[in-house]
Amino acid sequence: MAKEQDNFKQVISHAKEYGYIFSSSEIYDGLSAVYDYGQNGVELKNNIKNYWWKSMVQMHQNIVGLDAAILMHPTTWKASGHVDAFNDPLIDNKDSKKRYRADVLVEDYVEKINQKAQKEIDKAQKRFGEAFNEEEFVTTNPRVLRYREEQKTIMERLATSLTAENLADVKALIEELGIACPESGSKNWTDVKQFNLMFGTKLGASADSATDLYLRPETAQGIFVNFANVQKTGRMKIPFGIAQIGKAFRNEIVARQFIFRQREFEQMEMQFFVRPGEELKWFEYWKETRQKWHASLGLGEENYRFHDHEKMAHYANAATDIEFNFPFGFKELEGIHSRTDFDLKAHEEHSGKKLQFFDPELNKNYVPYVIETSIGLDRMFLAVFSSSLQEEALEDGNTRTVLKLPAILAPTKAAIFPLVKKDGLPEIAEQIVEDLQWDFNVIYDEKDAVGRRYRRQDANGTPFCITVDHQTKEDHTVTIRHRDTMEQKRVAIAELKEIISQEIDFKTWMKR
Ligand code: GAP
Repeated sequence: MAKEQDNFKQVISHAKEYGYIFSSSEIYDGLSAVYDYGQNGVELKNNIKNYWWKSMVQMHQNIVGLDAAILMHPTTWKASGHVDAFNDPLIDNKDSKKRYRADVLVEDYVEKINQKAQKEIDKAQKRFGEAFNEEEFVTTNPRVLRYREEQKTIMERLATSLTAENLADVKALIEELGIACPESGSKNWTDVKQFNLMFGTKLGASADSATDLYLRPETAQGIFVNFANVQKTGRMKIPFGIAQIGKAFRNEIVARQFIFRQREFEQMEMQFFVRPGEELKWFEYWKETRQKWHASLGLGEENYRFHDHEKMAHYANAATDIEFNFPFGFKELEGIHSRTDFDLKAHEEHSGKKLQFFDPELNKNYVPYVIETSIGLDRMFLAVFSSSLQEEALEDGNTRTVLKLPAILAPTKAAIFPLVKKDGLPEIAEQIVEDLQWDFNVIYDEKDAVGRRYRRQDANGTPFCITVDHQTKEDHTVTIRHRDTMEQKRVAIAELKEIISQEIDFKTWMKR
């Protein structure tokens, strides 16, 4: 656990040091759970967006894009259920006046029991060394078994109370477990209340005529309300999809874990409209397609797992999460949901407009069923960034920090160096930059010794370093060094474009 926390701290500080992520409005001490993407962060983010957009929209003839407004008619959120049910159970401590998510207080308590169990396992591992059989130990050791049973009982009771909206029992559970306010140590709690996560705002200049609006908590509803517009103007035939990338806002109460849970974040969502009765077939199709997309980036198959939902929202008939092994453990990265006809029907009812499709093969109108794929862009960023950051031991006994970003996503594709700042080498390097920048994001760097420049670019995630030396003046060749292998090759300047292109070829990446 301590090692995981250290790794996570390292991820956060590296992201700042190399211009990937800053706290929002940092000069005013930041704004909790809101972040800004720096000069490298914005490039990585745009590259992730592009990789998703190309694979979803460009590579599917039956999927088109959309960019709906963040502000939507307030009835949208009544129809979608967000006004009535997009809530977190909150509890206040009467002494410290601090507000907490009641379920998170319980989960944190359970995590402490988990840590006790882990301590027993670590102790035994030390004692038995190589002969240690963890599986046997955790299934037979009475202490570990007791801890596990305790965890299970608490989590089951929490799930039952939340599902039944029995908030009094959630409070009773907190009191029975003796959970104290992490700030004050006091156990003086208010009742648990539901708190809506949508940010409200106002449209209009004068106070009396202003309309109450919400900042959208998901991009999906912009797609649903545009279903008929896109279907008719695009002459789309079922099955077809609408994809969108955009900001979403949630007033998260427990917003920690860096960019994993933010108040302002971006989603990449796609709603795929299908014939009723065919949704489960398409659900499987999208599960497989999205899994392949993730695998193509090579972040490590062992870092992914599916978590199929047993209990589903009332409108869904199948749901799974793609979880990623973040520095703080496996957590949801993407959700794939079979949402039936719930959303379109709800918008039909609230708007009085038909949101149906005339199926010529069946010769009838129906409200299509929907499969949704929804991935958090910021979470994908964190998955890519954290799994790419490595401390590598070198043969000479030193270590290097290297950010092994998939080359197709790397902010800078190549850094061009003159070996020395004289003898006409800077001019040649600058000319290479000028030629390559038409096709790629490249930079010029002449500061410090070449070894240090290599290290800087390794830590920055740049796949190639290109060095201009005295031989370049004679034969128009340069050395090109690969970030991951550190291998250096002498190549002609004229070959550079082709070498870099091959490394970031979309088709090659997608077919991996
Ligand atoms: N339209 C469906 C929907 O919004 P969700 O599970 O609430 O479903 C989808 O969100 C994805 O959005 C999540 O899998 C996660 O990647 C991302 N996400 C949700 N809340 C987030 C937050 N507060 N900060 C960052 N990403 C978030």
